[in-house]
Amino acid sequence: MSGGINVAILGATGAVGQELLALLESRSFPVKNLKLLASPRSAGSKIKFRDQELTVEAVSEQSFTDIDIVLASAGGSTSKKYAAAAVAAGAVVIDNSSAFRMDENVPLIVPEINPEAAANHQGIIANPNCTTILMGVAIYPLHKVQPIKRVVVSTYQSASGAGARAMAEVATQAQAILNGETPQPEILPYPLAFNLFPHNSPLGSNGYCQEEMKMVNETKKIFDAPELRLTATCVRVPVLRAHSEAINLEFERPFPIEQARELISAAEGVKLVEDWEQNYFPMPIDATGEDDVLVGRIRQDISHPSSLELWLCGDQIRKGAALNAIQIAELLLEQNLLKVTAFTAAV
Ligand code: A2P
Repeated sequence: MSGGINVAILGATGAVGQELLALLESRSFPVKNLKLLASPRSAGSKIKFRDQELTVEAVSEQSFTDIDIVLASAGGSTSKKYAAAAVAAGAVVIDNSSAFRMDENVPLIVPEINPEAAANHQGIIANPNCTTILMGVAIYPLHKVQPIKRVVVSTYQSASGAGARAMAEVATQAQAILNGETPQPEILPYPLAFNLFPHNSPLGSNGYCQEEMKMVNETKKIFDAPELRLTATCVRVPVLRAHSEAINLEFERPFPIEQARELISAAEGVKLVEDWEQNYFPMPIDATGEDDVLVGRIRQDISHPSSLELWLCGDQIRKGAALNAIQIAELLLEQNLLKVTAFTAAV
């Protein structure tokens, strides 16, 4: 590898880490050297990148010397433990965990929505929650034209959001059930094959789980719209890697359906998928492996004159995580924003 910048993937053996590797390669990201970091469990394992076989290393505070960008996807506690060391070593950390997302000194970026926020980074940039990213790219084109007053969203979230081992668990669970067995869940809290359950992130005193509150709080930050009202119900469903969302949007005035369709058709990062004659709309199976968030079933809410209903599916690992992170890295390169000033956590 010659020319380009030095990149480290923290969490390289995970579902998102693997997708980050694939995207660095397929998007011809200018990687000079690539360092693969994970837990001591994976140290020594080999992963192919371009024409090389790279060895995974156990992460330590010394892992970041000469690294320009760290793409971190190894969970919040790992990010909290190592982000400061990475920044101190001169790297910019693009963090896929929730550790820093609501920190006022950390930009929270969806490149199709708020790329300008990158200019203020202090070494850490947060990649939003997956359901939040997918919803954001779909509804922001409408919000730009007429500010959304209120969002009511229900999610249908795939196993991938809980990681590679959760995906494998659903597949083996399904097989075992078809064989007449009753498998015990190990990664996910409850059986997911042939089942679903409300998202199992910790519940707050208001009755909402953390995943739901991420959608609420992160959307306001990304849209820079503190007055936006949102409510969410998040549900885990037995789908491998694409999330779906049913979204109700309330505006100040009626939003013409045709204009909504045109805006979504023209927007970056989304694709209108609607065949009303065939009753064919976005499905997780179609969104899998796609960069775009698929949007359809845009219709007038019959219960409210100023509200629209829409449906979306998006690849959780791709636009919901790895692709968004790579787009942020591309943005940093394009805008020459790799220089790091000292990071001070606000929370
Ligand atoms: P490992 O494979 O060594 O456990 P997923 O979200 O798909 O479960 O992936 C999580 C990723 O985060 C994996 O690459 C995993 O590495 C990594 N990881 C988990 N815990 C740690 C840790 N304490 N330190 C470093 N990497 C970690």
